[in-house]
Amino acid sequence: MKVAVVGTGYVGLVTGTCFAETGNTVTCIDIDEKKVESLNNGKITIYEPGLEALFERNIKQNRLHFTTDLKEGIEGAKVIFLALPTPPGEDGSADLKYILKVADDLGPLLKDYAVIVDKSTVPVGTAEKVTAKIKQNAKVDFDVVSNPEFLREGVAVEDFMKPDRVVVGTRSEKAKKIMDMLYAPLVRQGNPVIYMDEKSAELTKYAANSFLATKITFMNEIANMCELLGADVDAVRKGVGTDTRIGKRFLFAGIGYGGSCFPKDVQALAKSAQEVNYDFDILNAVMNVNDKQKTKLIPQIKNYFAGDLKGKTIALWGLSFKPYTDDIREAPALYNIDELVKAGAKVQAYDPEAMENVKGQIGDKIVYCDDQYSALENADALLIATEWPVFRTPDFDRVHSALKNKVIFDGRNLYNPDDMGELGFAYYSIGRTT
Ligand code: UGA
Repeated sequence: MKVAVVGTGYVGLVTGTCFAETGNTVTCIDIDEKKVESLNNGKITIYEPGLEALFERNIKQNRLHFTTDLKEGIEGAKVIFLALPTPPGEDGSADLKYILKVADDLGPLLKDYAVIVDKSTVPVGTAEKVTAKIKQNAKVDFDVVSNPEFLREGVAVEDFMKPDRVVVGTRSEKAKKIMDMLYAPLVRQGNPVIYMDEKSAELTKYAANSFLATKITFMNEIANMCELLGADVDAVRKGVGTDTRIGKRFLFAGIGYGGSCFPKDVQALAKSAQEVNYDFDILNAVMNVNDKQKTKLIPQIKNYFAGDLKGKTIALWGLSFKPYTDDIREAPALYNIDELVKAGAKVQAYDPEAMENVKGQIGDKIVYCDDQYSALENADALLIATEWPVFRTPDFDRVHSALKNKVIFDGRNLYNPDDMGELGFAYYSIGRTT
């Protein structure tokens, strides 16, 4: 099948590459000339494990193309994915200007029936708006379908190729048949393609992300209670997670969720609720708790140094919002850097992938180190913000001898508190008494 993908950001590039991998001929379209040039030269523009090999193979086999020309890109395409940014506007609602602009441009360019697919996370009612825009100038029949993505950064290829489910919002039988054909290779194990109306599909995406953000946040509050009551959040997590109604995943307490999706989507759903005069109280609580959770260890760090961080050097392991990504959007590490620098501390950081991005955003506010051990040189304490596997079993003797004060503040619960005590560290983590 011939497929077009408008927007070569994270979602667009993964979608385009993976559909090429299942045999489709895919053209990705983007207005960013530099990006398209780089992609056409076989240089991938995002970091995502496993994607590069697929990307290179499909370019070589002539199934994956890139262009800045919308008309050329959609030529003959049966399915046109819109994978465009929906940044939060000033009031927190999703800004649809990119999607609606492309919808406007698409109308006159359609030559034959096509399925236009909203892949971006968009508020309920967007499929209707996109349909209306295209209709203004279209001379042929078309359908607009909502098909939200559920990819996690870092495991996006796996999530795409073996999805738990595919959600498709359409009431058109013609569009359904085409979507079925496209997704058939990905759901051979029997995972469902769930069809529903467009609005329900749009809401499903927000509901899923907001539910997961709520689940994490609930566990973070339980962790805070554990600290006050002398209980252990790891034990509680296992105790509740084995109830299949609750499930084991997304129950890890830490210094809050970040990224480009949860914070934006929770905020956008709360805003949508407001627009229909509904107080979505849980979401407001989730946002408040998460804001506080991100810098939860700062008072403990200050306390340890008798309230004075002036002139102290803090080693920081991890900058990305989670492992296996260079994405730093809403990363808890950045909020901690702000607080530490404000209090007069110097921060020496190391991250396996995200240092360039942080440098681009905050410049010389912190010192960037070549590896995790150089970050410890002359440091008064270690703070861990991201659970990169390389931090999980470090050479503790090196950590011990490098740190001036043998103290670790662990925002991701990487170590066993008893082990840390035996190794001679003062150890502060989330929801566990030390
Ligand atoms: C999330 C969803 O998991 C995807 O299904 C969805 O498609 C995507 O948003 C999106 O809307 O595009 P992602 O933001 O890549 O994916 O990252 P997650 O792995 O879900 O992690 C989100 C945040 O939750 C991270 O900051 C992570 O550290 C935190 N988290 C996750 C916890 O604090 N505890 C957990 O137990 C799990």
